Amino acid sequence: MITKKNDLSKLQESEKGHVSTYSSRYFKERIPKYELPENSMPANAAYQLIHDELNMDSNPSLNLASFVTTWMEPEAEKLITENLHKNFIDHDEYPQTEVIHNRCVNMLARLFNAPEECSSIGAATIGSSEAIMLGLLAHKWKWKKRAKKGAEPNIIFGAEVHVCWEKFARYFDVEMRVIPLEKGRYVITTEEVEKRIDENTIAVGAILGTTYSGQADPIQEINDLLIKVKKEKGWDIPLHVDAASGGFVAPFTSPNFVWDFRLEQVKSINVSGHKYGLVYPGVGWIIYRDESDFPEDLIFKVNYLGGWMPTYTLNFSCNSAFVLGQYYNFLRLGREGYTHIMKNCMSNAQYLAEKLKESGKFEMINDAQMLPVVALKLKDSVKKFTVYDLSAKLRERGWVIAAYTMPANAEEISLLRMVIREHFSRDMADILFQDIENACNFLENGAPPAKANGKEKHRSIC
Ligand SMILES: Cc1ncc(COP(=O)(O)O)c(C=O)c1O
Repeated sequence: MITKKNDLSKLQESEKGHVSTYSSRYFKERIPKYELPENSMPANAAYQLIHDELNMDSNPSLNLASFVTTWMEPEAEKLITENLHKNFIDHDEYPQTEVIHNRCVNMLARLFNAPEECSSIGAATIGSSEAIMLGLLAHKWKWKKRAKKGAEPNIIFGAEVHVCWEKFARYFDVEMRVIPLEKGRYVITTEEVEKRIDENTIAVGAILGTTYSGQADPIQEINDLLIKVKKEKGWDIPLHVDAASGGFVAPFTSPNFVWDFRLEQVKSINVSGHKYGLVYPGVGWIIYRDESDFPEDLIFKVNYLGGWMPTYTLNFSCNSAFVLGQYYNFLRLGREGYTHIMKNCMSNAQYLAEKLKESGKFEMINDAQMLPVVALKLKDSVKKFTVYDLSAKLRERGWVIAAYTMPANAEEISLLRMVIREHFSRDMADILFQDIENACNFLENGAPPAKANGKEKHRSIC
């Protein structure tokens, strides 16, 4: 029997199970975008429609603008998928997940050299932003206990901090005493910190690997200053180290570099599990040097999930998968594995940076990088294009490379930043370098891409 064209949709309706995804009507009709649809659609159609639309996103592996992990091992992914449906906060129902969480806190406190005599405490968070807010809230609370009536709290940090520091100050009503940068100086100095300290300073913030340039604030010197202030004036001002990225790099690439709980005034540290902790987003950690650094009044005890449960995060429900992904990496990699990966990342970043410097068009923002980050600016001699043009041109090849200005008072500096992560090999560094060369040639002379290097003498003919 020959089926007439008009009968086709009826046939499709009656034989739903046999209709191939792309032959169904959902692929020739407009899909609802702003109102909840009245009717349902088959799972395969919904999946394919969304899957295909997401092809418009960038390729995460080529996204060098982000610090966040874009590759994990298949076994880690399996564990993550198996645990997506467990609400992490239900400790009573999922006690083993809580045990594993506590192991991670212990491992991190030791990785950050918490002194033996201290009882460190900590928690998983959605990321470093939540972790920083929790850390600083604890310091605000402790200040409140010692503050004179009517006193107003303040916090000191550099203009190079991540926006979450400013969010903390605004959301929790603390005066920001921001240290501006200068052309050529993209971290803070102790002299500038000292000028701003008073008895109502709830904490000083220092960054181990800034978002802008990957450099470290002078953490040891700031610690020394705070010890001096404690001795001379009796003000015990805590230092919070934002180790969002650096916390999983420095302990492995430079174990003798002292930035963590080895320093007396470092009372809290945040780190992003989903950056160089090598876990998919979102997991972060806040670790306090000692339980006395976290005020009891910030702990709530709830019983509506069954059993009495303490909670002291800003967020409540979230899945367990990424805490377990973190523990997987800790077990799987150990210090040895993290060290190899971080050294590879640093080495590939240095390789790419050297090649770009040698090309004669770029200047490094700073050679002493704490992170595997290539942050550079165009030399003054390059007149025909900007870092924004170059970033846009590289998008044509799929690369996502951040171009931005430095914060106050170094706004005149525009830079390009490439965050080198685990999956970025030496081979990819060579491809990126060639693409940058081609893009620069095009922007400068309108020239077509450069020829392949001389060793590639055999060509395929298509
Ligand atoms: C130094 C620094 N602090 C904090 C954050 C915020 O981290 P998260 O995205 O984990 O909330 C970032 C993010 O890039 C960062 O680089």
